Amino acid sequence: MTDAENRAFGVYVHWPFCLSKCPYCDFNSHVRHAAIDEERFARAFTREIETTAARVPGRDVTSIFLGGGTPSLMAPRTVGAILDAIGQHWRVGPDVEVTLEANPTSVEATRFAGYRAAGVNRVSLGVQALNDVSLARPGQTPAMWAAELKVAITEAAEHLSLYQLTIEEDTPFFGLHAAGKLKTPDEATARALYDVTQEVCALHGLPAYEISNHARPGAECRHNLVYWRGEEYAGIGPGAHGRLDINGARLATATDRRPEAWLMRVEANGHGVVTDDRLNSEERADEFLLMGLRLAEGIDPKRYAALAGRALDPNRIALLREEGAIAVEADGRLRVTQAGFPVLDAVVADLAA
Ligand SMILES: C[S@@+](CC[C@H](N)C(=O)[O-])C[C@H]1O[C@@H](n2cnc3c(N)ncnc32)[C@H](O)[C@@H]1O
Ligand code: SF4
Repeated sequence: MTDAENRAFGVYVHWPFCLSKCPYCDFNSHVRHAAIDEERFARAFTREIETTAARVPGRDVTSIFLGGGTPSLMAPRTVGAILDAIGQHWRVGPDVEVTLEANPTSVEATRFAGYRAAGVNRVSLGVQALNDVSLARPGQTPAMWAAELKVAITEAAEHLSLYQLTIEEDTPFFGLHAAGKLKTPDEATARALYDVTQEVCALHGLPAYEISNHARPGAECRHNLVYWRGEEYAGIGPGAHGRLDINGARLATATDRRPEAWLMRVEANGHGVVTDDRLNSEERADEFLLMGLRLAEGIDPKRYAALAGRALDPNRIALLREEGAIAVEADGRLRVTQAGFPVLDAVVADLAA
């Protein structure tokens, strides 16, 4: 098989609506009190897929990710229309991974048979806590978390994305936190929570394949691997990002974040793209490093050199190896170690400098 045949191509589709806004969330999610004209949105998604496919034709789609917002608020018919449009404009193989993000409410549970019939074969369930007591997050101890995590592993079986709460600006939590009314773990506790996460997951057969993602070997999310491995993907829907390879250049695309503004742009122009930037070699190489070092498999330094036009600094590599933050495998791949992951940002900054 040649490299071109091996390539992954992902399609991300963003559904920007939620029933209510979580107080910690700064994602592109919106609450609407009037009914959403889903058919109009479905037509716009179809149109943007067609326009994007005309820019990057002939791709074999290896993964589709319906993210949000709350995509499980979409009618199965809408999901079907989106997946059909992708299948009409690109090639989609029988083993394509099709993920839909869902929130665990009973209202949506009845829809899952419809999603499956439409082609969804993977559901990513968002939970903040597994019991109401744990929803009072402040004061969470590593032991409490370890117990809860074991339950999550039993229930999730093969894949877990585990994120510590980040206090984002422009969210209600930011104000509460600043006022001292919401306590987040101090550095030592955060570190202990991280360590216990690695330990429990590894012990139960779900090692980290990415800094925050754990899976049984073979159950990794292929779509997210597209991002971390620096492969090509199309972004469809309000506020969706894409990385398109056109005539040897890599374009970073982004659409209008505002749902109704995006809708009107698509109806007028066939797409909602507001950013369409050609990445220069330094930007491409930095992105490759930043994303790739999140992975347990690390990166191929030769690919970095090909993108950057220069190799990584051997002195910096030697120093980081001495500190135990990175390792170089026998095949030449460079990866961040367990000890290096908690300080990943600093490691990346050091290598990229
Ligand atoms: C943006 S949501 C989209 C999917 C779905 N609506 C949900 O809530 O799971 C994806 C994940 O990001 C998490 N998330 C959102 N804001 C966060 C924050 N400030 N810190 C950590 N995780 C956050 C959510 O809890 C969720 O697990
Ligand atoms: S349900 Fe998910 S996307 Fe929606 S506001 Fe909450 S965290 Fe954000």
